[in-house]
Amino acid sequence: MEVIIADNYDEMSKISAEFIAAEIRRKHDLTLGLATGDTPLGMYRELVNLHKREGLDFSKITTFNLDEYVGLDPLHKNSYNYFMNENIFKHVNINQSKVFVPQGNTNDPEIFCEWYENKINDAGGIDLQILGIGRNGHIAFNEPGSSFASRTRVKALYKETIEDNSRFFNSQDDVPRFAISMGIGTILDAKKILLIANGIKKADVCAKFIEGPVTSMITASALQLHSNVTVVLDKDAASQLTRTEYYDWIRNNKHLVQKMIGS
Ligand code: F6R
Repeated sequence: MEVIIADNYDEMSKISAEFIAAEIRRKHDLTLGLATGDTPLGMYRELVNLHKREGLDFSKITTFNLDEYVGLDPLHKNSYNYFMNENIFKHVNINQSKVFVPQGNTNDPEIFCEWYENKINDAGGIDLQILGIGRNGHIAFNEPGSSFASRTRVKALYKETIEDNSRFFNSQDDVPRFAISMGIGTILDAKKILLIANGIKKADVCAKFIEGPVTSMITASALQLHSNVTVVLDKDAASQLTRTEYYDWIRNNKHLVQKMIGS
C-alpha cells in the first residue's frame, strides 16, 4: 500500500484527480469505479477542470458507482445518482450509456445486484476503483462485520453512518436504512484502488486500516490484502499514523525507488 500525505484538502484533491487523469490518458476505455460523499467533491471539481482546460476525454470510459440508497428514485436530490450527475457527469463528455449507478428504486434488489455484478464482469472488471472511508472504517457501505468475500448486495446501515449522512437530509428519520453496495470481494477484484480521506475525524480510522490488523470490523483493512492500493490523505487524516517519516521519505525520493526497481 502506497501512502501519500498531502498538505491539505486541495492538494489531496489535485493528486487524486491527476492519478485518475493519468489512468484515463493511458487507457481511453478505462473502467472506473466511483464513490460519492464529501471527500471526492474537490477531486471531481479538479477532473472537470482537467476536462475543460486540457480536454481530458471521458467519452470512452465506463463507470460503476459503489452504492446507492434503497428506496430513492434516481432523480431524488439525495440519491447518489443525482450527486454524480450534479458533481461530475453533466460537466464532462461522458457517454451516459456507459454510466452505471445502482438502482435504489428497483423492485427486485437481489436480481438487480446480480445484474450489476455481471455488468462489471462484461466491462472487463474495474481498472481503477476510487474509495472514501467512513468513520467506522467502511468502504462503500460495507459496514463493520461485512464479509471480505461479499459481492454487490443490500446492506443495513450502521447508526453512525445514518448520523453522518443525516447532514444531507431534513432529519435523521429521512435517511434510508438500507443501501445497495458493492461488496468487499467486488472491490478487491479491481485492478487498482485509490482511497482518499481528509480531516481530523478520519485520523483514527486511517491509522487503524493502514497500520492496524486486518479485521472485518474495519472493512477498509481488507485493502492490505490487495497488491495495488494508493492512499492519499491530507495532513489531518494522516495525523495518527506512526510511520509518517517513512511515507514522506518515499514521496520525496520517488526517483530513487524507481531507479531501484528499474522502472
Ligand atoms: C460513498 C461511499 C462511502 C463514503 C464514506 C465517506 O459512495 O461509498 O463509503 O466514501 O461514507 O463519506 P464522506 O466522504 O462523506 O466522508
